[in-house]
Amino acid sequence: MKEFKQAKWSEPIIFEIGSQDRKGYSLPISDGNPVLSREYKIPESLRRHADPELPEISEVEVVRHFIRLSQMNFGVDNGFYPLGSCTMKYNPKINDTVASLDEARWIHPHQPEDTLQGMLEIIYKLALWFCEITGMHKFSMQPAAGANGEFAGTLIIRAYHKLKGELQQRREIIIPDSAHGTNPASASMAGFEVVTVPTNEDGCVDIEALKEATSHRTAGLMLTNPNTLGIFEEKIRDIEEIIHDAGGLLYYDGANLNAILGKARPGDMGFDIVHLNLHKTFSTPHGGGGPGAGPIGVKEHLQDFLPVPLVEYDGEKYYLNYDVPHTIGKVKGFYCNFDVLLRAFAYILTVGAEGLERISEISVLNANYLACRLSKIRGFEIPYGKDKPRKHEFVLSCSPMKSDTGISAKDVAKRLLDYGVHPPTIYFPSIVDEALMIEPTESASIEEMDEFVEILTSISNEAYNDPEKILKAPHNTSVGLIDEVKASHPRTLCLSWKMYKKRFKGETAKP
Ligand SMILES: Cc1ncc(COP(=O)(O)O)c(C=O)c1O
Repeated sequence: MKEFKQAKWSEPIIFEIGSQDRKGYSLPISDGNPVLSREYKIPESLRRHADPELPEISEVEVVRHFIRLSQMNFGVDNGFYPLGSCTMKYNPKINDTVASLDEARWIHPHQPEDTLQGMLEIIYKLALWFCEITGMHKFSMQPAAGANGEFAGTLIIRAYHKLKGELQQRREIIIPDSAHGTNPASASMAGFEVVTVPTNEDGCVDIEALKEATSHRTAGLMLTNPNTLGIFEEKIRDIEEIIHDAGGLLYYDGANLNAILGKARPGDMGFDIVHLNLHKTFSTPHGGGGPGAGPIGVKEHLQDFLPVPLVEYDGEKYYLNYDVPHTIGKVKGFYCNFDVLLRAFAYILTVGAEGLERISEISVLNANYLACRLSKIRGFEIPYGKDKPRKHEFVLSCSPMKSDTGISAKDVAKRLLDYGVHPPTIYFPSIVDEALMIEPTESASIEEMDEFVEILTSISNEAYNDPEKILKAPHNTSVGLIDEVKASHPRTLCLSWKMYKKRFKGETAKP
């Protein structure tokens, strides 16, 4: 196993470095300088004349400051990152370069359409590709995240029943207890009541319970598939029939499409609406709060409800179509998060159809390899559907370890940090006790996964022989074991320069 010791700097905040009038750049002032000339184009009326309160530091100081901070952090570029479900999947760096090209960076949503033809063409073609990948009829690229896509989708369900005059009656959305947490949140935000159906021993929707829950009150069902246990719903056809027969619509949470890319399509499974998380499956790094994109696709009978604007092509030019008869309106400012769409476009172009299929094969193979090896380590087990293959992820439970030694999923997660591994998602899904949700993704190598198995074996040995060492972990990180109660108390947190000044410099914060 590799040895890991994180850097530890007592790094001041950036405002405490440097001194008055020190500058971070020394560009020659020249008319031909593209950066400066852009700056000069800011109209007088929009210019700020009072000096903004900024750190006054040299270029070397600022670079060193941020490098030191990054050394005390952990990310996908440092090491293994098996953060189940919301993980960083394969994010080729070349696509970041594409997204930061001047042609993409400097366009503005207020530009006239005829100056944005290239951008519109990319959006239009990407939407067509997504239709082919998912088996849907039309896509809107508006939503900026998975949950934003879900919200748009549930508003479409609402608008559809309203138009049919059935909204008063159809107030319920059915959601399995193995769904991603944003599903019930989105349904509630759209004004529906959430009806939960349980998971059976096989880790799939309990079909009898689903039949019982379905009625004339059902507006639709939201299904995360593969579900949060990493299991593909075997009775997907039955599920579809039950809901459609009752007059409801089917929503497919396709955030983790890397599990089925090129192998199965939500549209062929009979689903009416789907969202994708481009900041997971299609090459934008996930995490850190954005930016993201959660486009939604619908079958033909729902296309008139999609959010606007839609990007269309009239045979000569691309244009923005706001004239969608029953549109739910906008769910985001302007058109979309274009840089995220551009990465997805470049990704699909470079890997091609065969590459997409290979991505899902490798992500599934990796998850099953790890699941098989980790389930044999003392103290761990994989509940639900014990002999079933997983898709892109699986959920390991530390329940046996907790009852034998007192070591919990949280303790294991903290000890993993000492080995330079980002911890898995913990305590989710809530239907698994002491859950560690693990997703190696398509980018993990066999050596990396074998090392992870060795690390968890070593942690298990420790749990049974020297639990104190785990309880005091992490030992090798820049920040040790934190006081969780204190850290989650708003009064102790100091989250901005203004708060910091008020607390430590005795200054009164301005509103
Ligand atoms: C299955 C699933 N659905 C929905 C979401 C929500 O996506 P977002 O975080 O972009 O809102 C996630 C999270 O990444 C997810 O894993």
